[in-house]
Amino acid sequence: MRLQLQTLFVGLAIALSYAAPMLQDVMTAEDGIAHLKFEAHHDAKPDRCDGIQFDAIAPDEKGNTFFFKGDHLWKGFSGPAQLSNSSFKELDDYHHLGHVDAAFRMHNKDKPKDHDHIYFFLDDKVFSYFNHSLEEGYPKDIQQEFPGVPSHLDAAVECPSGECTSDAVLFFKGNNVYNYDIATKSVKQRQWAHLPDCTSAFRWLEHYYCFHDYNFTRFHPVTGEVEGVYPKDARRYFMKCPNFGHGGEAKVPKCSDVNLDAITSDDSGKTYAFSGPIYMRLDTHRDGRHTFPIARAWKEVANGVDAVFSYGDKIYIIKGDQVYIYKSAVPSILIEGYPKSLKEELGIEGPVNAAFMCADHHVVHIIQGQQMRDIDLSATPRTVGVGAPLQISGIEAGMCGPDGVKVFVGSKYYHYKSPMLLAFSRILPEPKPITPDMMGCVE
Ligand SMILES: *[C@@H]1O[C@H](CO)[C@@H](O)[C@H](O)[C@H]1NC(C)=O
Ligand SMILES: *[C@@H]1O[C@H](CO)[C@@H](O)[C@H](O)[C@H]1NC(C)=O
Ligand SMILES: *[C@@H]1O[C@H](CO)[C@@H](O)[C@H](O)[C@H]1NC(C)=O
Repeated sequence: MRLQLQTLFVGLAIALSYAAPMLQDVMTAEDGIAHLKFEAHHDAKPDRCDGIQFDAIAPDEKGNTFFFKGDHLWKGFSGPAQLSNSSFKELDDYHHLGHVDAAFRMHNKDKPKDHDHIYFFLDDKVFSYFNHSLEEGYPKDIQQEFPGVPSHLDAAVECPSGECTSDAVLFFKGNNVYNYDIATKSVKQRQWAHLPDCTSAFRWLEHYYCFHDYNFTRFHPVTGEVEGVYPKDARRYFMKCPNFGHGGEAKVPKCSDVNLDAITSDDSGKTYAFSGPIYMRLDTHRDGRHTFPIARAWKEVANGVDAVFSYGDKIYIIKGDQVYIYKSAVPSILIEGYPKSLKEELGIEGPVNAAFMCADHHVVHIIQGQQMRDIDLSATPRTVGVGAPLQISGIEAGMCGPDGVKVFVGSKYYHYKSPMLLAFSRILPEPKPITPDMMGCVE
């Protein structure tokens, strides 16, 4: 039987008479309360606020994140531990090891049969689950499904194309990292000796985290590079623990306080909103929402942006009278020769309040004050269309999606079926408030 370490807060007197035989650690008195670490009975639940070295972390197809330790798991960023076999029934049937080595959520749009499945690794076996049911034919030997990947793994994490160079999985064992290309089944082995040995790895909102002890370190999924101050204590960021506030004390804003500088959506549906020095990805809400510094993804415009639009696999960021063009991989790469002046790139003078482009068109719609002008990016030299006077003033952000155009004024937005209607309709639609569903804000 595997025993769990458990910290309990118990009155000193009771502790000494009752729990003393199981005492494992030295007590430290604090305000008359003793912290006792003792080996609890099997049915005692581990507490992640004690500082846990997780075996594996992975989200399911609905975006619930599971943290695994021994035969227990936690669902989401708050709440108590439960037995793993209550959520993933068959995990324990085969080896009775009572733990998993590694887990990840498959990203493979080319193979819907496997996409969004959670894969668990236990010794030399791999298990595939969808909707919390074990898929037929599993468990399999790891090498049967992932040739070239070793058994007894430490950690695994998915890395979709755009973040890695192709849809891939990163497997960790010691300080060896195996980059497994899903389509070609080829493996590249690397050593990231500067990274601590990861006991679990987690991709969250396009960021990659190596968990070790109760800490985590964020890394670049291609180079392994660590940027910023790490390690950080996971209890401050990935779980709600008393006395462990969020490092930055980030407060969720009220929807009525949201004030966008820019918003953009690309052909694949990736949507980003910008406000001051922060950005948020909006279309990944099943996994949660979180703001990040713009500096993390687009270093050169860290202080804020005026307008952003997506064109093909590039993202155009306008700031003052400059245009920055990035490859829309994450983290982005500024294209050589940029920034360039607005005049040179688009044939206009700054500043720009908002810009957007609709899928399959080459025309960017530029809003300056109460005027919208169209510029065809497939034509050089650029020809700038005559401006259409808009009925709405104060537009600061705009985007075009499958359901039409949205332009944002403070915490409200106007919705039009097309850029044409925005330019020429004489009927002013009712402004709608930004909702929690759109931006993760609170009412
Ligand atoms: C789940 O696991 C616990 C302990 O690991 C075991 O006692 C229990 O019988 C298991 N339940 C099922 C349904 O397998
Ligand atoms: C998921 O599993 C539940 C319970 O086992 C079942 O009721 C539901 O139909 C399943 N959903 C899908 C999409 O398979
Ligand atoms: C965890 O990270 C902190 C810095 O945030 C560091 O002081 C501490 O030594 C680390 N603990 C372990 C066990 O790595």
